[in-house]
Amino acid sequence: MIEKTPAEIVLIRKACEITRDALILAKSLIREGISTYDIDKSIEKFIIDSGGTAPCKGYMGYPCASCISVNDMVVHGIPSKSIILKNGDIVSVDIVAAYKGYCGDATRTFCVGEVDGEKKKLVRVTKECFFKGIENARVGDRIGKISHAIQQHAESNGFSVVRELTGHGIGRKMHEPPEVLNYGKETDGAVIKENMVIAIEPMINAGKKEIAMLRDGWSVVTRDGKPSAHYENTVLFTAKGAEVLTLETDDEYYPR
Ligand code: MF3
Ligand code: CO
Repeated sequence: MIEKTPAEIVLIRKACEITRDALILAKSLIREGISTYDIDKSIEKFIIDSGGTAPCKGYMGYPCASCISVNDMVVHGIPSKSIILKNGDIVSVDIVAAYKGYCGDATRTFCVGEVDGEKKKLVRVTKECFFKGIENARVGDRIGKISHAIQQHAESNGFSVVRELTGHGIGRKMHEPPEVLNYGKETDGAVIKENMVIAIEPMINAGKKEIAMLRDGWSVVTRDGKPSAHYENTVLFTAKGAEVLTLETDDEYYPR
C-alpha cells in the first residue's frame, strides 16, 4: 500500500535507524587502502547484529548487502576485494536494511582524503538537492514538486540529472509505487498522501546525464567518465510535511 499503517511505520522507523547507523559505521571505515568488499562485510555484519536483514543480497541475483560506487560509477557498484579506495576518490554507499519485513533505504557519498573542488561541490550539491526536494513538498502536492526542485538545483549548479534511475515508495518491498523522479514538472507524478513512505535519491553527474552499464550487469557508470554522486533518505509524509527517517541526528539539517 502507498499509505502505511501506524504499526507499519513503527517497523519502518526501526529499519531506517539500522540503515542510518550502518551508514555511520561505513563512514567511520572510509579511508585510503580499504576495499569496498571489506566495507560491505562490516555493513552486513552490523545489520545482522542489529536484528535486521539485508534484502539487497540475493535481490535479482545481487551478491552483496550494499552497493558501493566509486567516482564515475553512478550506482549499484558491486563491492570487491580489488576495488581499493584511494586519496581523492568519492564513494557512494547505498544501504537497505529490513526489520521484521519492513525496509529502510539510504545512501551517502563520502570523500576519501583530499578531493578536488569539482567533486567536493558535486557531493555538496547532490545532498542539497535532496533537501531542496523535500523543503516545500506537502501532503496534497504531487511528487513532481520534489522532482522539479531537485532538477532545478542540480542544473543551476552546472550538473546533470540521471534519468534512468529513480526514487521509489518503500515498505515490505524495497521498491514500491510511486516512482520518484529526480526531474520533471511540479504537476507530474502521484499525489503525496499522509503516511506515504518514499525513498528520495538524487543521482547527479558532474558532466553529462548519459549513463552506461558495465558487463557485470549491475554497475552503472557515466558515459563521459566524469564523477557522479548519490544521496538518499527514506522519508515519511505527515501533516507537517516530510520527516526524514534515515537522517543522522547530528546532521546540519537536523532538526528541520
Ligand atoms: N538501494 C538501491 C536503491 O536505492 C537498490 C539496490 S539494488 C540491489 O533503490 F540490487 F542492490 F538490491
Ligand atoms: Co532507493
